[in-house]
Amino acid sequence: MGRIERIGVSLDKELLSMFDELIAKQGYQSRSEAIRDLVRRGLSEERLGDPKAKGVAAVFLVYDHHSTKLTDRLIGLQHSHTLGSSLQVISSLHIHLDEHDCLEVIVLRGHVGEINKVAENMLSMKGVKLGRLNIVAT
Ligand code: NI
Repeated sequence: MGRIERIGVSLDKELLSMFDELIAKQGYQSRSEAIRDLVRRGLSEERLGDPKAKGVAAVFLVYDHHSTKLTDRLIGLQHSHTLGSSLQVISSLHIHLDEHDCLEVIVLRGHVGEINKVAENMLSMKGVKLGRLNIVAT
């Protein structure tokens, strides 16, 4: 953290009490900490609009491992984004949920535009039952 500057914020009473309730529920120890996080989140979300911004993401996929073509395609796609490429698969986690279904969490790092493209590619693969992309600009 750089040099700290103090600012004053004017809020109407009702809004402030709703904010205090919210941050208490979320477990914040102080208003300052909650406001800092809101500012960071806002800035990060703004950067997500820029395809060239750097980001990290986790792609969650639930799929039936009996669709072997999907498994091969997913593995192939991950191997095409290893250390040398601008978009990297930095980790993946595989959990066997039951007899049929697997959960795979694939962590990507690269430019926001590329992450979105690869994630959409994964999420739209035939055989993926459920999927979700969680991305933050760094
Ligand atoms: Ni499995």
